[in-house]
Amino acid sequence: DIEIRELFRNREEYAGKEIVVRGWVRGNRASNQFGFISLNDGTFFTPLQVVYEASKIDNYEEISKVHLAAGVMVKGVLELTPGAQQPFELKATEVTVEADSLSDYPLQKKRHTMEYLREIAHLRPRSNTFSAVFRVRSIVAYAIHKFFQERDYVYVHAPIITGSDAEGAGEMFRVTTLDLSNPPTNEDGSIDYSQDFFGKETNLTVSGQLEGEAMALAFRNIYTFGPTFRAENSNTARHASEFWMIEPEIAFADLADDMDVAEDMVKYIISYTLEHAPEEMEFFNKFVDKGLLDRLHHIVNSDFERVTYTEAVEILKKADKDFQFPVEWGIDLQTEHERYLTEEVFKKPIFVIDYPKEIKAFYMRLNDDGKTVAACDLLVPGVGEIIGGSQREERLDILEARMDEIGMNRELYDWYVDLRRYGGVKHAGYGLGFERMIMYLTGMSNIRDVVPFPRTPKNAEF
Ligand code: 4AD
Ligand code: MG
Repeated sequence: DIEIRELFRNREEYAGKEIVVRGWVRGNRASNQFGFISLNDGTFFTPLQVVYEASKIDNYEEISKVHLAAGVMVKGVLELTPGAQQPFELKATEVTVEADSLSDYPLQKKRHTMEYLREIAHLRPRSNTFSAVFRVRSIVAYAIHKFFQERDYVYVHAPIITGSDAEGAGEMFRVTTLDLSNPPTNEDGSIDYSQDFFGKETNLTVSGQLEGEAMALAFRNIYTFGPTFRAENSNTARHASEFWMIEPEIAFADLADDMDVAEDMVKYIISYTLEHAPEEMEFFNKFVDKGLLDRLHHIVNSDFERVTYTEAVEILKKADKDFQFPVEWGIDLQTEHERYLTEEVFKKPIFVIDYPKEIKAFYMRLNDDGKTVAACDLLVPGVGEIIGGSQREERLDILEARMDEIGMNRELYDWYVDLRRYGGVKHAGYGLGFERMIMYLTGMSNIRDVVPFPRTPKNAEF
């Protein structure tokens, strides 16, 4: 049989010929004499229109009653219909039901709320919206690999189970095989993890960066692309407990080089997706976020803004706006501040750089002012932060002093510090939140709707 994508791509080749297609019924309506099935086989966003007639197929009665979602085989002749709403239709000579569906199919032909669709996560990929989102997800993943591979970056698989907390935020999922209802304990009553599976405390990774740095200092340019886990108890539309992150790490690079790569990558992803998922992107533009396509085209053709944290704080202080969270130098920028900057002031993606060291991770390079670090966050309209990055502290004494200052367990990170002892040249990198990128590209407003089976606090149902 032939896939529907192929029919749409090379329709001329099949015009007038008898072909066989297999797919699922997305719509079915019939009169006494003829009926229409809207057929989707999953390979293409737009369904194929099938026309069947009582005089041409012998099971007309049966087919006219076939339920939504039934799997069918259709043999027929492809007829081009220029000028009509559909570019062609399939005139059936034979229709067979391969798997019927019950009449109470939860995805009836009407608009459902996103909340309802989340409750049927196993069926929602069949809806228009999710069919578009999840195909774009796949295309974007490929575009990211393509971007880095074309530039000869080495793809690194960072471990999923680690003994470290790369971000130092303590938001980790513990990995253990101990019987926690009766664990072995130390003299002071605390759990004795030396008896655990790995002989120490372990957790799911929050970031592959530290391992990525080790690899970059061997291969120069590397990237990771894998799942990361955070036990943040923030129930927002932008936080997931399990999400995918892309973390390039570049040796001999400083913060400006780092941002150049990030900006090129974001533009590449947008261009690639516009080119390779035109039907899906058109759908988002029409039904999810009006003006999306204009905005994306504009972004590809303009430079991102770069402002320092200190400048950003000045702008926010002068803003004629009642922020819920008051602005002063030293605060972590909140979503409301990020949105104001990107949506009302700059109206485009902006890099905010040089944050106070107190609100950033231990590995970021201390600037000459002694107060800020060489960090960069990329903020975009509608979503907020999609990238967090920095130049890394390559100076052994300053790194060690910082680790002591915030009371880190030096033994745990000895291998990381070691990298500074043996050819630890300047280097920089960043992390792109894959789901946030998908939200930005599609206009979808909740992270739960860009992951097939999302994990968020109190939700791991599917
Ligand atoms: O800013 P973050 O925490 O940076 C890091 O993890 C660094 N190690 C990256 C690096 O320099 N190699 O996270 C990076 C990005 C964020 O900008 C955001 O897009 C995404 O990861 N992110 C999340 N996405 C979904 N749900 C969450 N809970 C997220 N936390 C971070
Ligand atoms: Mg961040």
